[in-house]
Amino acid sequence: MPSYDFLTFDVADRIATITVNRPDKLNALNAGTIAELGAAIDDARMRQDVGGIILTGAGRAFIAGADISELQGQSPFVAKGRSRAGQEVFRRFEMCPKPVIAAVNGFALGGGCEIAMACHVRIASEHAKFGQPEVKLGILPGYGGTQRLPRLVGKGRALQLLMTGEMIDAEEALRIGLVNRVVHAAELLGAAQIMLKQIMQNAPLAVALCIEAVDRGLGMTLEEGLTLEANHFGLLAATDDMQQGMSAFLEKRAPTFNGR
Ligand code: COA
Repeated sequence: MPSYDFLTFDVADRIATITVNRPDKLNALNAGTIAELGAAIDDARMRQDVGGIILTGAGRAFIAGADISELQGQSPFVAKGRSRAGQEVFRRFEMCPKPVIAAVNGFALGGGCEIAMACHVRIASEHAKFGQPEVKLGILPGYGGTQRLPRLVGKGRALQLLMTGEMIDAEEALRIGLVNRVVHAAELLGAAQIMLKQIMQNAPLAVALCIEAVDRGLGMTLEEGLTLEANHFGLLAATDDMQQGMSAFLEKRAPTFNGR
């Protein structure tokens, strides 16, 4: 089992909670934290006792971005390598076949906003703040922000956030579609757990193929995406869980899915 210096990893009720734990640095992402996030999402994906994942932050921040102290003086190809390494780890969150919810408890800036966008669903505390302030530092988002933000909120709103570097509150993030829900701070983890349990009651392979169809489909033409969807629809017809789900409905009982 991996051990972690910069985050905590807890499993309860089939939910793995990954908590970035550098509160004195507002959970800024140094290289070590990014590597540990990669190990943690791999661990959560592989473990049989995990059906869903929550990503959150310790203290008053979710993640206040990349660790600026590591970026200063970076050379072009070191910077490119850093960007690619972070992108690759965040992509593992996005492609995880188990549902991943970002429970955004505070500042989600720069890389914090970017990893939240790589999660499947975002639930924000009323105190959360979002932004891509990289241009204030003379850089641009390097962990997927220029690509995922317009996909989530549209080109105009994304460019506004990217070019101004402004911070928006949770209500504004909800209004523009950057987050799915806003809840009271005390209810944040509970709300994420309730949503994950709702998802985890469904057939795991069907959920996994929804994630894959939406992710891959967004990069395809409509015709290609519809073909992918039909193929996934066909694939699920081979599962025990499809028989289970339909029999349970017709017999007016709750299904018991086994992920096969
Ligand atoms: N990288 C490195 N350290 C960071 C950091 C980051 N992205 N964000 C915060 N910290 C550190 C601060 O340097 C400070 O450390 P110190 O106590 O050793 O001086 C500590 O976290 C607390 O931050 P502080 O700025 O004092 O808190 P604040 O409440 O006054 O401001 C923010 C909060 C989030 C507005 C401010 O920290 C900030 O703007 N952070 C940078 C955000 C950013 O640009 N992210 C994108 C990076 S590419």
